[in-house]
Amino acid sequence: MRGHAGAHPAVVAVEAEEVVGYGSLSPYRDRPAYATTVEDSVFVRADRRGLGVGRLLLDELVRLASVHGFHAVIARIVGHNDASIALHRACGFELVGVEREVGRKFGRWLDVVELQRLV
Ligand SMILES: CC(C)(COP(=O)(O)OP(=O)(O)OC[C@H]1O[C@@H](n2cnc3c(N)ncnc32)[C@H](O)[C@@H]1OP(=O)(O)O)[C@@H](O)C(=O)NCCC(=O)NCCS
Repeated sequence: MRGHAGAHPAVVAVEAEEVVGYGSLSPYRDRPAYATTVEDSVFVRADRRGLGVGRLLLDELVRLASVHGFHAVIARIVGHNDASIALHRACGFELVGVEREVGRKFGRWLDVVELQRLV
């Protein structure tokens, strides 16, 4: 969270004075040519999932990306995380590719699914 400020903010969802989810925008790549693109990240507390919190957070991140003048938002989703893919599709993201077997955990290869939304 500390690394997020200015054009690369973090947002939190609060319910009854408790944080139930958070999201952030990060630089996509270090090189200046990619400065108009950001990568999003969203997390909702396990007992508050499926209630629309993720959608609220991601809609707000896309809105902030637009306000801050970014052109593209990328989501890189590890493994076959159906909830995250469904969330991003619901927020207007389109599948642009799958990086196959680029990660490895507990003896298994991991794919990274990439979705994108232009803002
Ligand atoms: C992915 C995650 C953020 C979704 O948050 P959420 O609050 O449960 O999602 P929402 O309730 O806002 O649902 C948003 C959309 O995704 C769909 N969805 C959510 N969970 C789903 C699931 N398990 N399977 C299928 N669809 C799902 C909903 O139907 C909804 O679509 P709709 O608006 O068209 O009905 C949450 O599951 C999570 O924190 N997972 C662990 C961390 C993670 O994977 N983060 C993503 C890394 S980018």
